[in-house]
Amino acid sequence: MSFLLRTLPLVHDWVKQVVKPGDRVLDATVGNGHDTLFLAELVGTEGTVYGFDLQEEAVSRTSELLEQAGHQAVLTAGCHSQLSQVVKEPVTAAMFNLGYLPNGDKSVITQEQTTLLALESALELLAHKGIITIMCYPGHDGGASEASAVEAWARELETPHYLVMRMSPHNPKNPAPYLIAVQKNLP
Ligand SMILES: C[S@@+](CC[C@H](N)C(=O)[O-])C[C@H]1O[C@@H](n2cnc3c(N)ncnc32)[C@H](O)[C@@H]1O
Repeated sequence: MSFLLRTLPLVHDWVKQVVKPGDRVLDATVGNGHDTLFLAELVGTEGTVYGFDLQEEAVSRTSELLEQAGHQAVLTAGCHSQLSQVVKEPVTAAMFNLGYLPNGDKSVITQEQTTLLALESALELLAHKGIITIMCYPGHDGGASEASAVEAWARELETPHYLVMRMSPHNPKNPAPYLIAVQKNLP
């Protein structure tokens, strides 16, 4: 059964409203490359997508997907907490899809401490009106405490310079994925 009320189309819709051709954007967890491809299509040949993943396998799956679609990205196999060593210019969007690589090694998961460091770096790089999206997965071991830490981090971002939204299923039977999105609004 497919519902209209899903987070992924919502994330894509928000990101689409902010990102323009020629922009620089960031995928902090490329995984199988779906979000990287989505971003590459938005920024086009004049733009730049920076992508990170701890696992070589994810980076090669992403390169392959991009190549098949005729797109490119600046991909780094490494921890996203180091992203400021690679990304030196403002980005209009930063996507975080936490957790483990689907159809991959489920023991490699994003970790609270490095996720928060990466979020801080992304926030610093974020352009005026830029957006950070974070898909949180509280259902696996370690996922709930990471998600809580992300929520606490986002809650501290002060209005009016940041707007934070949290979108979550209201009637899940089990801990369900949810979205936190941050938009910057400089004075
Ligand atoms: C849910 S998947 C991402 C899915 C991806 N956005 C897609 O569209 O297919 C999460 C990814 O985060 C990666 N990851 C885990 N820890 C990381 C870290 N410290 N830095 C960068 N990537 C990390 C995992 O290897 C995994 O591929």
